[in-house]
Amino acid sequence: MKKTVEANKTLIVNGPSSVRIISGRAEVFGNIIKENQQIIVREGKRQPFHALENTEFHVSLGANATMQEEETKTIPESWNEALQTVVAIQKKPAVVMVMGKADSGKSSFSTYIVNNLVNGKTKVAVLDSDLEQSDIGPPCTVSYNYVTRRVTELCEIGMSNAFFVGVTSPIQAVNKSIEGLTAMHREIMQKHDADYIIINTDGAIEGESAINYKLQLVNQLKPDLIVGIQNQEELAVLFSGIDTITTYCIKSSPNANVRSPEKRTRLREMNYAKYLKDAKIRSLFASHMEIQEKNILPKEAGKEKGILVGLKNSKKHFLGIGIMLEYNRARQTMKVLTPVSIKPAIITIGRIRLDPELREMPL
Ligand SMILES: Nc1ncnc2c1ncn2[C@@H]1O[C@H](COP(=O)(O)OP(=O)(O)OP(=O)(O)O)[C@@H](O)[C@H]1O
Ligand SMILES: [Mg+2]
Repeated sequence: MKKTVEANKTLIVNGPSSVRIISGRAEVFGNIIKENQQIIVREGKRQPFHALENTEFHVSLGANATMQEEETKTIPESWNEALQTVVAIQKKPAVVMVMGKADSGKSSFSTYIVNNLVNGKTKVAVLDSDLEQSDIGPPCTVSYNYVTRRVTELCEIGMSNAFFVGVTSPIQAVNKSIEGLTAMHREIMQKHDADYIIINTDGAIEGESAINYKLQLVNQLKPDLIVGIQNQEELAVLFSGIDTITTYCIKSSPNANVRSPEKRTRLREMNYAKYLKDAKIRSLFASHMEIQEKNILPKEAGKEKGILVGLKNSKKHFLGIGIMLEYNRARQTMKVLTPVSIKPAIITIGRIRLDPELREMPL
């Protein structure tokens, strides 16, 4: 259907939908969308198209998708002020960590600052440490990549490297999560080419374990600035424990889409499916590989079926995820369902089990 939106108003589209601009211009989290450009809004996602001039859209709404018009911008002014604070950091690379509870807008704000920083000269790296709702790598990984052009969603930038942690909540594997983040951070630093490193984090910000984990992260990575997104004072306790690093609080948008735990699980399962697309059953020789976290593998034959694994090459570069189908201890053979076609040198056992429909099951 066609929809005309006046300049300065915003068309909010919930996925699954497809949006094309027939005439005019709109902005989505700092990315300018021009005539004839088509944007896919995935299931469970929401994109605000802020009309920069009178704009005519063609919107195709999929099952249960909706759209609504807002009178103003949906990006709070405080997001722009935070962007100016980021730009003012003299040190390079400037390391900015983004924190906030689930659905507060961490990924959207990261997209907004990335889009406003990236240009022909400035190189921006995004380090995604949200294992639960990852934007760059598969779920249960810490991943990074460089942004070279503006995007509507961070998943468009692809993945340079990742570290498989094997859990959806870092609290279940604090040391491994920190090891992964530190390794990816070090890799970016050693390339010496990023002007900005934007670190997106997971949404656990309250409770002792979550706070301890976040404080460890901060101590380890020593960002130059932490941007906190909140509605009330959800970050107050966490930030009261951070005294050596500047924290800057901004508002969550009233249009942020709060998703139920079931919906979040469903989104994660769609993400597994994306990374297991084209997967085939591969036979691997366990004796030719290093098996990390082997103690997680159940002793009883057959119980290993469905366990999520991460695969790496001999240079420790992440190759992809897979699902363990069979591990024959006597023969030292494994069957793994994975799109990775080259022989991995390292296999890491995860603490997640997926059923044949790629739904998460208790381990
Ligand atoms: N300023 C905004 N205007 C319109 N929609 C927004 C805005 N900020 C966030 N949203 C929408 O709200 C939803 C949640 O935002 P986002 O995914 O950025 O949050 P998050 O903190 O990264 O969540 P998660 O914990 O799932 O990673 C998204 O669908 C996003 O498009
Ligand atoms: Mg996010």
